[in-house]
Amino acid sequence: MKKDTPWKVAVVGCGSFATGQYLPNISKTANAVLTAVCDIRTDVAEASCKRFGAKEWYGSVEELVEKGDFDIAIDAASIPAHDHINKTILSAGKHLFSQKPAALTVEDLTEQIEIAKKNHVKFGCVPIHMITPDMLMAKQIIRDGGIGRVLSVKCVSTHGGPEYFQYRSADPSWFYEPGAGALFDMGVHALDKVTGVMGPAKSVYCLAATARKQRTCRSGAFDGKVIRTDYMPDTYYISLDFGDDRIGFVDTGFTQIATRCPPLEIYGEQGVISFKEHGGTWPNPEVYIDSPAIGMRGWITPQTWTKSTRRPNFTQCCPLADLVEAIENDTEPVLSPEHARHVLEIMCAIPLSIEKKAPIDLHTTFKPFI
Ligand SMILES: NC(=O)c1ccc[n+]([C@@H]2O[C@H](COP(=O)([O-])OP(=O)(O)OC[C@H]3O[C@@H](n4cnc5c(N)ncnc54)[C@H](O)[C@@H]3O)[C@@H](O)[C@H]2O)c1
Repeated sequence: MKKDTPWKVAVVGCGSFATGQYLPNISKTANAVLTAVCDIRTDVAEASCKRFGAKEWYGSVEELVEKGDFDIAIDAASIPAHDHINKTILSAGKHLFSQKPAALTVEDLTEQIEIAKKNHVKFGCVPIHMITPDMLMAKQIIRDGGIGRVLSVKCVSTHGGPEYFQYRSADPSWFYEPGAGALFDMGVHALDKVTGVMGPAKSVYCLAATARKQRTCRSGAFDGKVIRTDYMPDTYYISLDFGDDRIGFVDTGFTQIATRCPPLEIYGEQGVISFKEHGGTWPNPEVYIDSPAIGMRGWITPQTWTKSTRRPNFTQCCPLADLVEAIENDTEPVLSPEHARHVLEIMCAIPLSIEKKAPIDLHTTFKPFI
């Protein structure tokens, strides 16, 4: 049921992503208001509180749940902190959406899901791709039979490495250290999209290479710094088997300094959906239609003419709107933790597949999105 007063939101972790995407957009995105912020760097918490007009700031998640005035938390802290933060928030009976990956093991994410269920709170997990306007349009086209049965899907999520393509004020070396890497930074997005379209995979096989053993920062505060990058692969070609002769492919890594490959293509029996680069705008995908009935085949860029798939003010903060809708309608968020867990299981299985040079069976599942 729609709430008369705004939902009170706390943001945990006030780093670069939260500052750019969450803190300024909360009231613009949903019937919600920022009430509290939390960061282990207390100077950052205090400054964010002042800058974004929160009422309270805290230096630990424990203090936040003990004293804070909020209904919903957004976990935007550093990756290793997510599991503890999420379990603390959910155990306190608060709704939550978490940045990725919500945990580093399938077992921990399962525990988070169980805590949410036990406490009757809603729990959502990014990546955001299943609610972006272009993906929702693709879903509508597929459901309406626009490309026929979906046969396979291919996703490219690559760049030349964080030291190559981004201006950074912080040292990017940590991207190449154990616990980080291209798979968790870039692969997570591609795997989220491919499984979102095809449903849960039955097995994964991966070929990988550590193609560049050292790199040099090309801009930013650490311009010229040489980084050792031989700890883990930087190039991954991942094959997924979805059963019923449906397969998917993910090309991810830090070794493609440029590409003209579409980020995502969905191949159907009677058509193809080809996504374009978005850069934060998510344009409508292009669609190839093969229609024997009207004797035509070719590419079109569909216009929206019935129901728009675009939320007003669509930003990276929209998982909050997804969560609020789930709370108010007592449904489950589209950005489900079960989907996030399946993606996590794939990422955890990939090093084993590389080591064994063999496919690895997958066991987790989620409700298919399309
Ligand atoms: N979806 C995307 O496209 C995208 C892009 C960038 C980052 N991210 C994700 O956003 C999250 C944050 O990334 P970032 O780039 O903002 O990192 P960051 O290092 O700039 O910020 C992280 C913040 O979390 C704080 N923190 C760490 N442990 C904490 C704890 N236990 N309690 C409270 N605060 C804590 C740190 O002090 C820091 O201020 C990560 O999960 C990252 O994967 C997502």
